[in-house]
Amino acid sequence: MQKPYERYLQEVLIDSETLQARVAELGREISADYAAVPDVLLVCILKGGVLFLSDLMRHLDFPHSIDFMAIASYGSGARESSGRVRIDMDLRQDIAGKHIIVVEDIVDSGHTLQYILNILATREPASVKICTLLSKPSRRLVHIDLDYVGFEIPDKFVFGYGLDLDEHFRNLPFIGVCKPNSQVGAS
Ligand code: IMP
Ligand code: MG
Repeated sequence: MQKPYERYLQEVLIDSETLQARVAELGREISADYAAVPDVLLVCILKGGVLFLSDLMRHLDFPHSIDFMAIASYGSGARESSGRVRIDMDLRQDIAGKHIIVVEDIVDSGHTLQYILNILATREPASVKICTLLSKPSRRLVHIDLDYVGFEIPDKFVFGYGLDLDEHFRNLPFIGVCKPNSQVGAS
């Protein structure tokens, strides 16, 4: 029988094994860089970053804590960020003096991340680095220095492994490319 997501899936872009291997590699790289750094806080951007965060932190061997932030984007379609973003859920702690690693699912135009970075900067952390699972460089509208990137991908709408298709399928263990013009629920 066809699985519910198969209707919307054009192709698997990154399979589960490839994802897990790369996440482990990123974990080792970050662990090497942060071996001697105190007060490290991973800031996961909800909701897309949760699967990545939970897998990544299993590969970190230095002391760190985690916190969450949710950003809402409005003023355009659900698949495109308008550049108009706001905080939907803020961190629950003071980050002054802390070494922050922002954990994101994907950087597309860069608007969301730029907004987050501006906010974090006003709170005087000791440092801020970015770790994103995916990046679509061809879609970038604002330049952002990414410190750790899992995979650079082409300009295609993807879902799975934290990323949603109209809020569905975040649980899939792989990253899939969405068929053009598909909308969950539409027949
Ligand atoms: P940006 O502000 O344009 O960089 O968009 C970033 C946000 O848009 C991400 O955090 C995702 O929530 C969402 N997004 C961008 N591209 C995709 C995609 O291909 N699949 C699912 N969500 C995406
Ligand atoms: Mg996101």
